[in-house]
Amino acid sequence: MKDLTPNKSDLDPIEVASIDEIRGLQLERLKWSLRHAYDNVPMYRERFDAVGVHPDDLRTLADLAKFPFTTKTDLRDNYPFGLFAVPRERIIRVHASSGTTGKPTVVGYTEKDIDTWASLVARSMRASGTRPGDIVHVAYGYGLFTGGLGAHYGAEKLGCTVVPISGGMTERQVTLIQDFEPGTIMVTPSYMLNILEEFQRQGIDPRACSLDVGIFGAEPWTNAMRSEVEQAFDMHAVDIYGLSEVMGPGVANECVETKDGLHIWEDHFLPEIINPETGEVVEDGEMGELVFTTLTKEGLPMIRYRTRDLTRLLPGTARSMRRMEKITGRSDDMIILRGVNVFPTQIEEQIMKCAGLAPHFQIELIRKERMDAMIVHAECTPDQANDEARAASARELAHHIKSVVGISTKIEIHPEGRVERSQGKARRVVDNRPKE
Ligand code: DLL
Repeated sequence: MKDLTPNKSDLDPIEVASIDEIRGLQLERLKWSLRHAYDNVPMYRERFDAVGVHPDDLRTLADLAKFPFTTKTDLRDNYPFGLFAVPRERIIRVHASSGTTGKPTVVGYTEKDIDTWASLVARSMRASGTRPGDIVHVAYGYGLFTGGLGAHYGAEKLGCTVVPISGGMTERQVTLIQDFEPGTIMVTPSYMLNILEEFQRQGIDPRACSLDVGIFGAEPWTNAMRSEVEQAFDMHAVDIYGLSEVMGPGVANECVETKDGLHIWEDHFLPEIINPETGEVVEDGEMGELVFTTLTKEGLPMIRYRTRDLTRLLPGTARSMRRMEKITGRSDDMIILRGVNVFPTQIEEQIMKCAGLAPHFQIELIRKERMDAMIVHAECTPDQANDEARAASARELAHHIKSVVGISTKIEIHPEGRVERSQGKARRVVDNRPKE
């Protein structure tokens, strides 16, 4: 793998500023953001008034804890444009989440917001090892999802040549990688596995392809998966995080030289970690739910937005700004099986330990004799496609899950290609329990 460490002189000065300077800038911007939300969004004014806080009450960053949280339900209740803080005419773009239940959530950006977003994706890409002049293959979905266009504008801003292929048509993805020779690919990690399979199907050695770095996000993935993809393609695999409500991709990103968690771009987003049950702010280093307050957003300021993502905050390393550990999972995706909390990422880690298994998997929840049970559907590698080898892999996986995660699961090892493939965010859990 190439050494892609960026030159310090190419970084934004704030990326390597002192903590005092960063905190000073955050305080100044936070005061503006609270005031902007209070003055222009009726919901924030009502909420703040209801608990008797006013933007002027914020004297230090810690005072933010006095302000109420915002949740996805608030966006739904104010569908479609009710939380915009500027006249609708100043919104130059909207995105929306698909919303599996109920109404989608709609987000909006002013011209300045789009410019900030592009700059932060450009910063994220530079941290990942991409350089101006590189060819960037964007296989995140284009459209209402923030992945495709978010990556696209960032890549242009950095000065790259963008290939806006979007997701799907996997055969063509491989053809264009072979023909255009991009250095960077931006795609969900689960779809990257799909692309990997297509390389193998076409008999092309993925290690010989042009890719130097993959910028993977939009869903949880583990360090074990990182090693797998890095080995398969002989390239760096770097984590990018974001969510539509707060901006889109590029809220936080790993640095290619350290790959030790994602630096949060704290000059634009103030992170907190809270205890999801009590709402209390916990110390840096402790696990909990990630909460963001936007510091510069005009169109849709977000005050203490509860992401449902579980992680912890760590001090800066390659950059001054704090890091968040790779996301363990969303509180919504946590499975509670006979009292044990389980995340799909924990199952992924155990699958990656089994040499006879491919990295594709899905978890099925069922109810048997009034007890919840879990079936892990995985696939054997092509060279292990006999009954004996599959049975051995099933035993091995069941053993790892039992000893590390602490639960008994049924394992089904399928032949190659049977587990659902993703073209974007993978569906890791299928709940087949009867509805109450
Ligand atoms: O997924 C934005 C994005 C696009 C991020 C492309 C990175 C790359 P949403 O569709 O609003 O936005 O989904 C946001 O996805 O709250 C997390 O649960 C999850 N997520 C995003 N990035 C990561 C990541 C985009 N790197 C939700 N690791 C978030 C784990 C992630 N989960």
